[in-house]
Amino acid sequence: MSDLYCVFGNPIAHSKSPAIHAAFAGATGQDLIYEARLAAIDGFLPAVSAFIAAGGKGANVTVPFKEEAYRLATRLSDRAARAGAVNTLAFNGSEIFGDNTDGAGLVRDITHNLGFPLAGKRILLLGAGGASRGVIAPLLAEKPASLFIANRSADKAAVLAHAFADIGMVNAGSFSEAAGKSFDLVINATSASLSGESLPLPPGIFAPDCLAYDMMYGKGETPFLALARAQGAAMRADGLGMLAEQAAEAFFVWRGVRPSTREVLADLRAKLAT
Ligand code: ATR
Repeated sequence: MSDLYCVFGNPIAHSKSPAIHAAFAGATGQDLIYEARLAAIDGFLPAVSAFIAAGGKGANVTVPFKEEAYRLATRLSDRAARAGAVNTLAFNGSEIFGDNTDGAGLVRDITHNLGFPLAGKRILLLGAGGASRGVIAPLLAEKPASLFIANRSADKAAVLAHAFADIGMVNAGSFSEAAGKSFDLVINATSASLSGESLPLPPGIFAPDCLAYDMMYGKGETPFLALARAQGAAMRADGLGMLAEQAAEAFFVWRGVRPSTREVLADLRAKLAT
């Protein structure tokens, strides 16, 4: 019988994860079934319990359940413990292992797919919510020269910077406090574009040869990348590569095999364009 995996979220109908993992399974010859499962907003725990009872081997977790999955895990990877959120669960007997592959996915997309090494780079991270928190430790592990976290509410950025101060050079402030500085990599981890709002980025923050990276993606250019282009960012990338890479990392956690993302990513890109 095929091993069973799923992704939990609410909403979940438009998740790309089942197609991504089916493609990975086909390419690596792994015998598994991966489906999307809608959990009620107040029903994550029973949904996970039912899945385990049905023989589920592992699951991805997406909005809004990542913090709940973190609390549910009986054992956490270091990166999940740092992130305070879990996007990958593995079930083994009575153990629920919680991991977080988002940051690894971001770093691999930037360094491997985009060929942009992070060592020695000045990084600006926009946003101080869950998406931002999840990628800080993996970014710092690449030994950038500095990491500045800018957020609309500067106090939230300061809390985050403090939480990671033991593992790297992290500063924080409001958007306007980034004025006068320039960065080699600017990452948008805010949810501003979901509400159609643009970010009040001070001019001059994009250094020559800067990479602007939006963790969001959509049909056409995202509002943040349009702004980055207008402000002269030489290279720009959306979060589709991160989506494929976090999935590949989760697949590796479960199966011990790392699938190539090249074809999956090309396919996702083509579908997004139609
Ligand atoms: P996620 O899990 O996606 O990070 P979140 O925890 O709700 O979601 O965090 C959303 C982030 O986007 C926050 O940093 C938020 O800024 P505040 O902390 O000041 O609320 C940021 N954000 C959302 N809308 C924004 C906007 N219009 N302009 C600037 N930042 C915005």
